[in-house]
Amino acid sequence: MVEPDVPQRTWRVPARIETARLVLRPYTLEDVAAMDDVIPANREHLLTFLPWAVDEPVGTEKRTELVEKFIADFKAGTAFTLGIFDRATGEFIGGTGLHLRDHPGHLEIGYWLAEHRQGEGLMTEAAAALTRVALQWSHSPFVEIRCSPANARSRLVPQRLGFALVDTLETTCGSDAREELTELWQLTPEAFLDSPASAEARPALVDGIGSPLAWPV
Ligand SMILES: CC(C)(COP(=O)(O)OP(=O)(O)OC[C@H]1O[C@@H](n2cnc3c(N)ncnc32)[C@H](O)[C@@H]1OP(=O)(O)O)[C@@H](O)C(=O)NCCC(=O)NCCS
Repeated sequence: MVEPDVPQRTWRVPARIETARLVLRPYTLEDVAAMDDVIPANREHLLTFLPWAVDEPVGTEKRTELVEKFIADFKAGTAFTLGIFDRATGEFIGGTGLHLRDHPGHLEIGYWLAEHRQGEGLMTEAAAALTRVALQWSHSPFVEIRCSPANARSRLVPQRLGFALVDTLETTCGSDAREELTELWQLTPEAFLDSPASAEARPALVDGIGSPLAWPV
């Protein structure tokens, strides 16, 4: 799919997204302790496909700086990094977000789950909610998920939701600049309407002061 010819732009994303089993929301400084527990404990699980995990454990000071940057980017509308929390218990169980990276004209979903919470359909549930938010609330012209062809579990998420594989890019990665392949999975607002992603219940949306947000009619 060709990137629409759009100028640099910022986006709006709800401050809190609630699905049947999950809360997706920006990290706060109160989350740093849980992040310091969960992320380093999952270092080996994350390392194969998420290069940033190599720096774990980053330590509380650096983690605090990272969270402050996530909060600032969210406010600026330039990146939307979200924690994944178990709605019933409040447990921090993973990370996700809507990202612009080098493509400010559309939103991209990224994700990881703590190893012990795989296999329950939680990431598919979160990605379905973020897909609907990106397309119907933030009005992204399409939504994208990028993953390695070798990441069997990750590429199943867009497949389950009805995304189309539109391209496979050759990219370089890491300090040794090794060649990697990256698949681009995309879903348009039109294709969404007939997709498994639209069969998932519409998530509840909340603004920054805790008031419900209405979906566009
Ligand atoms: C990628 C990742 C988030 C996928 O997690 P996952 O648990 O496989 O995905 P889901 O949470 O959607 O769960 C799907 C599994 O739950 C099962 N499941 C149970 N209930 C389900 C439901 N209601 N809906 C969908 N799947 C359901 C599926 O059958 C599937 O089972 P399987 O593990 O036997 O294949 C996880 O493997 C991860 O964090 N990996 C490391 C980081 C990473 O690679 N991130 C992506 C970088 S591109």
